[in-house]
Amino acid sequence: MALLEITGASVQFGGLTAVNEVSFQAEPGEVRALIGPNGAGKTSLFKAIAGEEPLSAGTIRFQGAPIHDLTPHEISARGVRRTFQNGGLFGELTALENILAGLHTRIPSSFGGLLLGTRAAKTAEKNGTRKARALLEMMGIPHVADQWARDLSGGQQRMVEIVRALATDPPLLLLDEPAVGLAPPARAELMKIIRRLVEEENIAVILIEHAIEFVMTVCDTLMVLNNGELIAEGPPEEVRRNREVLEAYLGR
Ligand SMILES: Nc1ncnc2c1ncn2[C@@H]1O[C@H](COP(=O)(O)OP(=O)(O)O)[C@@H](O)[C@H]1O
Ligand SMILES: [Mg+2]
Repeated sequence: MALLEITGASVQFGGLTAVNEVSFQAEPGEVRALIGPNGAGKTSLFKAIAGEEPLSAGTIRFQGAPIHDLTPHEISARGVRRTFQNGGLFGELTALENILAGLHTRIPSSFGGLLLGTRAAKTAEKNGTRKARALLEMMGIPHVADQWARDLSGGQQRMVEIVRALATDPPLLLLDEPAVGLAPPARAELMKIIRRLVEEENIAVILIEHAIEFVMTVCDTLMVLNNGELIAEGPPEEVRRNREVLEAYLGR
């Protein structure tokens, strides 16, 4: 049984088929990169996995159970976490507070208020803080913990977003263009960190990237989406030589 199993998944917006009968599986300890030109359907596929867009056909199973009829909140609670293409930190909170805010979404909202101030909540917060600091350390940015999010560099903000998602120990992490807007050295560093996270935490990562060259060294499996269809899937070196990929995606 695969951690994530997508079978014949389609997403439609009116008459437009954004994702067209896509099937693949993801396993723990694996980085899968999903590339494709703008409008290929990459984000729509992530939204379908996260429960933000309904499937018009197909199934999505996580840890053996179908999740395609669940709400985003339920899917997140099962351990599918994602970051967004356009960020989403609270600028007025510190990096650490942003990460802890992510943890609180795990506390059922009806109990959240009741729990505040109780011993259980304090223990949870203490453990969360420890985990958050350890992850920031691992990302190489322990010093940003108490800085306002709005004062961080673009690269640091991206890393904090990833830590926020990771702090909940998700078995599956979906990263939508995490390196967008970063200078090439920061991109390379971020990719290295993602690689290390997957190995150390034994999670599965699916990584959307616009540019093929940034994912060549980070991913185990490269998938190419074009016009909503998965046109190639395999080891990155192999996929890069695939003729259909060269023609459709690289335009050669
Ligand atoms: N909410 C929406 N309503 C209508 N069309 C959408 C919506 N979201 C995406 N699309 C369309 O679906 C296609 C795939 O978009 P998207 O998944 O964002 O592609 P990518 O992330 O690969 O750039 C595009 O043609 C886009 O215009
Ligand atoms: Mg997108």
